[in-house]
Amino acid sequence: MWDYTDIVKEHYRNPKNVGEILDANAIGEIGSVVCGDVLKLYLKIDENEIITDAKFQTFGCGSAIASSSVLTEMLIGKSIEDAKKITNKTIIDYLGGLPKEKIHCSVMCKEVLDECLKNYYEKKK
Ligand code: FES
Repeated sequence: MWDYTDIVKEHYRNPKNVGEILDANAIGEIGSVVCGDVLKLYLKIDENEIITDAKFQTFGCGSAIASSSVLTEMLIGKSIEDAKKITNKTIIDYLGGLPKEKIHCSVMCKEVLDECLKNYYEKKK
């Protein structure tokens, strides 16, 4: 059995920002090549390029749920430029660690964030 930190367990049991943003102006979706799970991220970004809302939906494991939950918490209130600095290591550090077999779940979060921001810039063109 893997050992999870209390922060991982808390975010798995009570995930924040689950759901969909109907008027999102950035949406990203990623499937993990490692496990086949899927993660979708919605962002609402204002005219000053500040992320005012973030929500996620996933068919992923507990680590994916916890990683996504903290990702959305980190994103809300951040500028796009600061959001770009978030890596999967940032997520793992925030969670107090993840078992090595579950690192890819945090990588999926970083990838969906990249997809989301790509989608934002494509929509702005
Ligand atoms: Fe698939 Fe965690 S996201 S095992």
